Formats: sequence, structure tokens, C-alpha cells
Amino acid sequence: MQRLGIDIGGSGIKGAPVDLDAGKFARERLRIPTPDGGKPDDVARVVAEIVAHFPDTDGPVGCTFPAVMSSGVALTAANVDKSWIGTDAQALFEQVAGRKFVVVNDADAAGIAEMRFGAGKNEKGVVLMLTLGTGIGSALFVDGVLVPNTEFGHLEVNGTQAEDLAAESVREEHDLKWKQWAERLDEVIAAIDRVLWPQVIMIGGGVSKKSEKFLPHLHPRARTIPAQLLNDAGIIGAALATVTDADA
Ligand code: BGC
Repeated sequence: MQRLGIDIGGSGIKGAPVDLDAGKFARERLRIPTPDGGKPDDVARVVAEIVAHFPDTDGPVGCTFPAVMSSGVALTAANVDKSWIGTDAQALFEQVAGRKFVVVNDADAAGIAEMRFGAGKNEKGVVLMLTLGTGIGSALFVDGVLVPNTEFGHLEVNGTQAEDLAAESVREEHDLKWKQWAERLDEVIAAIDRVLWPQVIMIGGGVSKKSEKFLPHLHPRARTIPAQLLNDAGIIGAALATVTDADA
């Protein structure tokens, strides 16, 4: 079975049909830059353009969004335009693109993909995925079942939000050395550990392709492993999120 997956990020909106049995793109992905300001109507137009580019997919379109998503409605807007708060992204995309949509949190989608096809494939128990990018996203799994919309990136660590301390964007902005940045990430992971005892932590986001630079500097209690699907995780997870029992 194939489903179209779309990943909305701060700089690009990417989509591809996904072969859900193989966990791979069935066609080359299309990336369109995120419109300046990232306002709902402008983003919806790009989403519709991506849908139109892949006319052969059927079923609902899966889409990620970097916010708490409840029944398709964005409830937060940490790193996106504030007008998203309260926007029914699902209804908006359906209206503009003329297809059914399922819209989920970006980190949850990436986690779903990693659990099915990547680093979390055979992992049971409490597994936490952290995505390090513009912000810090999280996805929590208990025996493979997602607990949606966890937001560990907003946990307070030493008087500041975890994502303001240790997101990948903070490393770049402050030109931090990998070791310095890893120390910050260690603090975030230790703070998470005080309230949750994951057995495994998967580190994802753009930075996961450079895991050899920072993983050796981390001192986590939990087994900490790099994500495997790298930039494809969001699209693959979005496509997987469209599958319901009726598809079985
Ligand atoms: C948002 C999350 C999102 C994460 C990664 C955070 O600021 O609150 O919902 O998953 O960034 O994009």
C-alpha cells in the first residue's frame, strides 16, 4: 500500500508517496521552500501543490506539523506563526487540496517511522525519541504504542526551556563545539530522566546524521541510539499515521 506523506518544516515542505510495506519513498520526494512567515493559508497552498504533484496516491494524505495537534487542530506554535494556534490544519488542508488529511505532530511522526522501520524496530518498553532541529520534539512509546503530543522540548532545565538550551539551532547560532553542545543535551536528558525512566532514547532530527560527533560525549543512563531514517522519518511517519484498522 502507498500513501502520500508530507512533512512541514520551518524551511521546507517536503512530500513523497511512501511504500508502507517497505518503509521507503515510492517516488522521488518534492521539496518546496516554506513561504516567508509560514502563515496557514500560504502553507496550505504549498501543501496543495505537493498533493497535485503526486496525483496517483489514494487514501488520506498524512502530514506533519511542528506543534501539539489535537484532532487536526494546532494547539501551540512554539516555532511557527502564532496564528496557527487554534487553526484546524486538517480542515484547511482538506479544503485547499481537495483530499482527506491526517495531521500529526512532527516528532510523533518521526518516532512512528523509527519504531516501524528504523532504530526502534525491535524495541519494547518505554522508548523516547528526541528530534533536535529548530526546536526539540519528542515522541514517547510504551511497547510500541505512541503517547501523542509529549513536549519534552519545553521541559524547564536550569531555568530555561530544554529547546532553548540544546536544540540543533542553538548549537549553530552560538557556534557551540560538539562537546559543549553535548553537555547541554546531557542536562536535558538528565532532567527528562528525573521524571521519566525511558529504557531507550533515540536521537533524531537533522543532526542524527552526525551522531558520531556528539553521542560519544553524552553520558545518558538510558541506552541512547541515533535515529536511522534521518530526513525521511517525517514523511514516512506521516504516511504511516493515515493507516487505520480498516486498512488492514
Ligand atoms: C514544538 C513541538 C515540535 C518540536 C519540533 C517544539 O517547539 O512545541 O510540537 O514537535 O518543536 O519541531
